[in-house]
Amino acid sequence: MREMMQKLRDASIQAILESENVESLEALRVKYLGKKGELTGILRQMGKLSAEERPAMGQLANQLRADIESAIDARRSELMSAMMEKKLELEAIDVTLPSEDVRVGHKHPMYNVLDQIKDIFVGMGFEIVDGPEVELADYNFTKLNIEDTHPSREWTDTFYFKDDSSILLRTQTSPMQVHAMETKPLPIRMIAPGRVYRKDEVDATHSPMFHQIEGMVIDKGVTMADLKATLNLVVEKIYGKGTVTRFRPHHFPFTEPSCEMDIQCHKCGGKGCPTCKGQGWIEVLGAGMVHPKVLAGCGIDPEIYSGWAFGMGLERLAMGEYKITDLRLIFENDVRFLEQF
Ligand code: PHE
Repeated sequence: MREMMQKLRDASIQAILESENVESLEALRVKYLGKKGELTGILRQMGKLSAEERPAMGQLANQLRADIESAIDARRSELMSAMMEKKLELEAIDVTLPSEDVRVGHKHPMYNVLDQIKDIFVGMGFEIVDGPEVELADYNFTKLNIEDTHPSREWTDTFYFKDDSSILLRTQTSPMQVHAMETKPLPIRMIAPGRVYRKDEVDATHSPMFHQIEGMVIDKGVTMADLKATLNLVVEKIYGKGTVTRFRPHHFPFTEPSCEMDIQCHKCGGKGCPTCKGQGWIEVLGAGMVHPKVLAGCGIDPEIYSGWAFGMGLERLAMGEYKITDLRLIFENDVRFLEQF
């Protein structure tokens, strides 16, 4: 029996040292120490021993069990750390490898121009306000003194949501004048940039969606001189000192008097060139003194208060600034185009 145990010791320790993974190690534990294992098999034969021999053999067997167990434990931790090392090696990161190319974007050129304009007006104490693109016809037209028969109300010109023509996509940012006058305490100095929509076919100068910036001042004693002085200042900040402007009479239902402002072409100085299409002048915006009827409709007494307003197209301004000749380039978002700015 002593011999059998010695044999089992040699064979099991050998097998344990040679085992290659934790699964086969576990199989060895079952094989040697399990209920039906080899050590149990030997112990079954204890009955054949004499009473004097039994305690010594029992002690030997217990020692053998403990030795096999600690051999298995030692081998297990060896295998585990080898596994961990392999895993670390596999997951190792080479910090010296060049990284993937990260492309950082930048602001759209048109929004650069918008930011510049916002800065100029904020510097003069104007507030920037935002408003709905889905608008009531009441605000887009009626409260702006635009009569029911005005052609811009036609279904062919304006996107309506309902058959009764009561809700639409705003065709101009001017409804923001009404929103401001109805909700803000006086005096008011605000600009309201945003998208507007008209049923226009897409071409080099038209798009069914484009951007306008509305501006408005309401206070006591505001005159056309304030409008001209303010807009002249803005133009000088955008196009440089000494930029010449001219104000031509025009008609808008919600301003009286109304005008359009042109700037003398900053490329040719008024001689005529491709930028101004040979005109020497570039049309920049529509403006005027807020109509007394519009003021009164918003609950402001036109005998006490007066104000001026303007609306300008943002795309056209950006196209002038960056010498972009086709409006579609602004909306197509082709990176080959955008990367140039
Ligand atoms: N809303 C007008 C347009 O779209 C421009 C404008 C704004 C005119 C404010 C006068 C005052 O043409």
